[in-house]
Amino acid sequence: MSKRYTLTAALPYTNGPIHIGHLAGVYVPADIYARYLRLQGCDVAFICGSDEHGVPITLKAKKEGISPQDVVDRYHKIIGDSFDEFGISFDNYSRTSAVIHHQTASDFFKILVDKNAFIEETSDQFYDPEAQQFLADRFVVGTCPKCGYTESYGDQCEACGTTHNATDLIAPKSVLTGKTPELKTTKHWFLPLDKHQEFLRSWIVDQHKDDWKPNVYGQCLSWINDGLRPRAVTRDLDWGIPVPVKGAEGKVLYVWFDAPIGYISSTKEWALAQGKDWEPYWKDKDTTLLHFIGKDNIVFHCIIFPSMLRAEGSYILPQNIPANEFLNLEGQKLSTSKNWAVWLPDYLKDFPGQQDVLRYVLTATAPETKDNDFTWKDFQARNNNELVAIYGNFINRVLILTHKYYNGKIPEITGSNTKDDAVLDQLKNTPKALAASLDRFRFREASQLLMNLARLGNKYLADEEPWKVIKVNPERVKSIMNTALQIAAGLSVLSEPFLPFTALKLQTMLKFKNKPEWGELSGGQQLLKAGHQIGKPVLLFAKIEDAQIQAQLDKLQATKLANANESSKVFDLEPLKPNISFEDFLKMDMRIGVVMAAEKMPKTKKLLVLKVKVGDEIRSIVSGIAMDHDPESIIGQKVTVLCNLKPRNLRGVESQGMILMTKSKDGSLVFVQPDAAQNTVSGLKVS
Ligand code: 2FM
Ligand code: ZN
Repeated sequence: MSKRYTLTAALPYTNGPIHIGHLAGVYVPADIYARYLRLQGCDVAFICGSDEHGVPITLKAKKEGISPQDVVDRYHKIIGDSFDEFGISFDNYSRTSAVIHHQTASDFFKILVDKNAFIEETSDQFYDPEAQQFLADRFVVGTCPKCGYTESYGDQCEACGTTHNATDLIAPKSVLTGKTPELKTTKHWFLPLDKHQEFLRSWIVDQHKDDWKPNVYGQCLSWINDGLRPRAVTRDLDWGIPVPVKGAEGKVLYVWFDAPIGYISSTKEWALAQGKDWEPYWKDKDTTLLHFIGKDNIVFHCIIFPSMLRAEGSYILPQNIPANEFLNLEGQKLSTSKNWAVWLPDYLKDFPGQQDVLRYVLTATAPETKDNDFTWKDFQARNNNELVAIYGNFINRVLILTHKYYNGKIPEITGSNTKDDAVLDQLKNTPKALAASLDRFRFREASQLLMNLARLGNKYLADEEPWKVIKVNPERVKSIMNTALQIAAGLSVLSEPFLPFTALKLQTMLKFKNKPEWGELSGGQQLLKAGHQIGKPVLLFAKIEDAQIQAQLDKLQATKLANANESSKVFDLEPLKPNISFEDFLKMDMRIGVVMAAEKMPKTKKLLVLKVKVGDEIRSIVSGIAMDHDPESIIGQKVTVLCNLKPRNLRGVESQGMILMTKSKDGSLVFVQPDAAQNTVSGLKVS
């Protein structure tokens, strides 16, 4: 019986195309692994699909004035096409709007209800009275209670990865209206993660201390040590899977409850089409379940989904979750909203037919243990100096010489030679070395081992110089060329996971039909027999010119400029005040503080009395911001304080400093925050 594997790759949100960060972090490593397992003869279900629920999709639809269904239909197609074009060999690519998924997720929820696996609780949730809707997840942003990042989403902070409930946010704001939300009572179903905490701890510590990547293991342990809390798995939204129980009208399943179940429904869809049974792929203890994800998804796959699977009771748990860190682009974080990305459809327009180049570069520089940077110069160098100069050059020379000397027929070995044996030994050992790296999810290392095999072949030809030897010892050249051809054939198999298009081209050129399995490559048998006729050579890789790279850099520069223009748009500027001297400026002592307490100044509309901690000292500051900020919403807010402004008595309170504020687009006062993203630009205005 061949070993069974279920591999899942994070379901992409269908609110935009995918970019190189997605490819490097999730889909290329997952695909390499799936292809590698198939070459080993394993029984693999490589599963993915579109994640079509959730707030990002609703927001995109609102922005474009179309329905969420229109949004997901558009991007499901675009994303699916990109995966096909880049050779991501999913066995099934489904979508969470599929009937089979709605059914599977509803059934899963109902089983958990029947097993009393949820807590039903009525609690206060954020509500935007102007938009007349509850503000779940990304409908609300505010300051992360854990790391202080000011743009944290309601369900997750992108800066520190923590997941929280929206009501944990400090200074929350509705993304729909920009207003501070109200609290409104509503009922939800909560998954009591606290009840699974000790199980999760021992499962992770006892079984996976050594095989999970340190970044994944460390994050999980830190969450568990912080203490897990119940998580709401339903939402008051109108886009999603209706909660399938009485009394839940108008509520849908939380996207992170239904999305991972999407792996299961996609497997069912595939099994149905193949006439197979889906259950062993999820329930048989002999199946290895692996989730390929980016680091922002760790908590959902290592804590929440395993708790769901365990609560259901009949499923296996993942064996490993090889999450990657993030890829940056030319030194900056990839960002969809800032269009700071290389989108796959754009790449293909600019580099048609060069999918393997991107796959190779993204693998060679994968953000496996830390965030990593993609630069166009490096992309060019890896293509020109490695794929073209080593791999392509070796293959081209072997094929051209075989045609030139033997009309494309593999010559026979004409005598033993230690150099040939040494090279063939290395060929024999490469599958084992590659497997050792791949089994530990070290894709970068593996890509370099593969390139080393091509390097070995290239060096062998350069050292043996068949083009010179042919004049003096044509018998010896037969052995040299036979050896080089065996390396070419080995490369064509071992490259398949990394460079699938190239591998196929090479196998076609070599007319290499009865490919051995991965393990058989270590047997040392002749891969191409003497007398076998090969086909005509075609170039595998093309040099990338400076002008092509410059065009990409120019594109990014234009994006930078557009972003700078956008964030420096001025509005309703008041006339500038007269210049002050540098000496005047230096007199100001500005420091960063945190609002510890805030209350309304009695009988005033505009004033708040704040207690602001600056260094070790707590200062009372009277600030005219009450029209724009509720006292409760600014506790924990970081602020810039002008500390040496002469204290003033305002309605009986000594104000010991001034908070720096500026105006936002709608004219409201916002904080000049020490660590905020650029949010306003109308010049400083002191409240
Ligand atoms: O982060 C994301 O893009 C999510 N759509 C990933 C979902 S993975 C899963 F569990 F479905
Ligand atoms: Zn945070």
